[in-house]
Order: sequence, then C-alpha cells, then structure tokens
Amino acid sequence: NNYVAILAGGIGSKFWPESRQKLPKQFLDLLGTGQSLLQSTFNHFKDICPIENIFVITHEAYKSHVHAHLPEVLIANIVSEPSRKNTAPSAAYISHKILAINPDANIIITPADHLITNDRNFQQQVFETLDYVAHHPNIATIGIKPTRPDTKYGYIQYEHKDQEDTFHKVKTFVEKPNLDIARTFLRSGDFLWNSGIFAWNVKTFIKVLEEYLPELNDVFVQAKDVLNTPKEAKAMEMLYAQCTNISIDYAIMEKVRNVSIVTSRFGWSDLGTWESVYEHSEKDYLGNAVYGKNVMVIDASGCMVKAPEHKLVILQGLEQYIIIDTPEVLLVCERNKEGQIKDYLSEAKRNK
Ligand code: GDD
Ligand code: MG
Repeated sequence: NNYVAILAGGIGSKFWPESRQKLPKQFLDLLGTGQSLLQSTFNHFKDICPIENIFVITHEAYKSHVHAHLPEVLIANIVSEPSRKNTAPSAAYISHKILAINPDANIIITPADHLITNDRNFQQQVFETLDYVAHHPNIATIGIKPTRPDTKYGYIQYEHKDQEDTFHKVKTFVEKPNLDIARTFLRSGDFLWNSGIFAWNVKTFIKVLEEYLPELNDVFVQAKDVLNTPKEAKAMEMLYAQCTNISIDYAIMEKVRNVSIVTSRFGWSDLGTWESVYEHSEKDYLGNAVYGKNVMVIDASGCMVKAPEHKLVILQGLEQYIIIDTPEVLLVCERNKEGQIKDYLSEAKRNK
C-alpha cells in the first residue's frame, strides 16, 4: 500500500544564474555527482515501493525534463499541472489520483531538490513513517535538528520527552518566521525544521482537505470519474485554474492538529544557497570547490568555481568568492554577500 509522490514543479529562483525559470534547481547537478537532484531523490525512494507506485508531479512545462531525467518512472505517473498553484493543490491532486487507485494507500510526499545523506537510515525512517501513518490517523513529518535561525524554513514545535527516536505530537507549525522569532525558536530547543517530507494515509488526508480546504478538495471530487483516464488532462486544464494558490505549509501544516513528527536520523540539506553547495562540496586543501573540467585555480582559497564543461577558466588570487559561469551569465560574488544577489538582479532587470 505504499506510494511515493515527488514534488518537482518549483521554479527555484535561488540558484541564479545556473537555475532559471527554464531549468529549475531540481534538474541541476549542483554537487557534480553526475545526477540531478531529482535523480538522486528518486534513487533514495526507488526501493520503497514498486515503480508503478512512484509518482512525480510537476508543472506541464517540465514534464519532458522529468521524463528525460527519470525514464524508469511510468509516463502515466508523471502528473502535470496546467498552472502554477504551489504545493497544496499538488498534494491534493496526487492524493486524489492515488485514492482512485488504492483507497488505503499510504503516501510519502517529498521535495525533489534536497541533499540526503546516509541512505540506509533514510530508507529505514521512510518505512517507519509509512508504517506509522498506516496505523494512526495523523499526518507524519520528518523534522531536522535546526543549527541556525534560518528564516527560509518551517519550524515545528513538538512535545518531546526523553525519547527522541519516536513520533511525537506536534504543538505548533510556523512557516518561515522572521529572524527574531526564528532565534527564539532555536533557543527554546523545542523546535525542529520542517524537511518538507510528509506522509499520510490517503483517507486521513482527504478528511483534512474536507475540513480545511473544502473548495480545493471539491475541484478533485468533481474530477473523480476522469482521474487516471485519458480524459484527465483535458478536464484538469479547466479545473486546475480553480485551485487556490497556496503551499501545503501555510494551507495545511500550520492549521491541522493531528500531526506527528520524528527527528531525522539522516543527513539533510535543502541546498538553498551557493554557500550550502560550497559546504557540501569536495574541496582542495585551500578550501576551493571546483566544478568544470578546465578550471585552473592558482593562489586562491575558500572559493567555489563553476564553469561550463569545456570552458577554460583561470582564477588567480581570490579569497572567499563564488564564481558561477554559464553560457549567458557570469556571477562573481563574495561568499558572504550572496544574499544581496537578488536585489541587484531585480535592479538589473528593471534597467533592461
Ligand atoms: N508540483 C509542484 N507544483 N511542485 C512544486 C510547486 C508547484 O506548484 N511549487 C513548489 N514545488 C516543489 C519544489 O520543486 C520543491 O521540491 C518542493 O515543492 C518545495 O517547494 P519550495 O518552493 O522549495 O519550498 P520552500 O523551500 O520555500 O519551503 C519548503 O521547504 C522547506 C525545506 O526546504 C517548506 O516546506 C518549508 O516549511 C521547509 O522548511
Ligand atoms: Mg525549497
């Protein structure tokens, strides 16, 4: 009864200039492993259930990319969204599709663009989570021990006693708090980061939708007879436009009471910044992370350089810089100033 749903429709504007709307983060091989993040996500999940139970949901513009990256996934299981509505509609859509196939399905839903290490622990914990939702009418989530007051994450307060390694009741869920609040949460020791990996039995989730998002739920109830048939795509073109545009975090996780959390036993990074890519990269003895076959680094330290495969790049004398070269754009930026890129970028766009 186990199913996997990979969310792969985000536009990921953060990895400019490498990631742009045409090729968002999940399709990039950010760590030079030879696999896109989507491919490594799939590999972490592929032994959880039979291949026909693995679904990928994405915007229709990326459907062919998903197929090219994951030829093993059945074409019928690459679900395409006709418009961008964020993750709550994606979760509702995929859950209704799976409900129509198996009314007792246990579904684990996951972002497509994170780094996960310690595969064995990860898989074991995914099985435990699916088993938990099979026996409890709760949404389950895997939380990450927070290490800094990062404002790009959801924070989950939970009732933990001494035992860490089991499921605990969630008290509150706060999506992307401001810095002051994030600091308070971190200090309290009561909070975990939301990994964005959720699991539920499909019956539990449909009840949640009926209670908290009845209009969204109705969209898919209307489509019930065409789901998983050749008529689905055409019907969804019209129906998807009616979905509210909201993330699962704001629409569901902040509101629902029957949520349980377990602390992750695997390594996790959402690779949200070039800095985090740098941190997870292999480096030479001077701390340079180099991506590109023809990059020469001389007397530089603490730099990350990425260049197209055959481009010759010579870097001399820089310290603590990020250098990202793409066919159209070159970025050279101090490592701790990365946060400013988006401001300059919007200025550049305005002046164009
Ligand atoms: N199919 C589909 N459709 N997928 C989408 C859509 C959409 O409209 N929008 C986003 N996604 C996918 C992204 O590709 C990604 O894999 C996942 O859903 C999460 O979306 P993000 O846009 O990356 O969310 P976030 O990083 O701002 O925040 C979420 O992740 C954090 C952990 O990285 C939240 O769940 C936070 O609470 C969490 O801490
Ligand atoms: Mg993200």
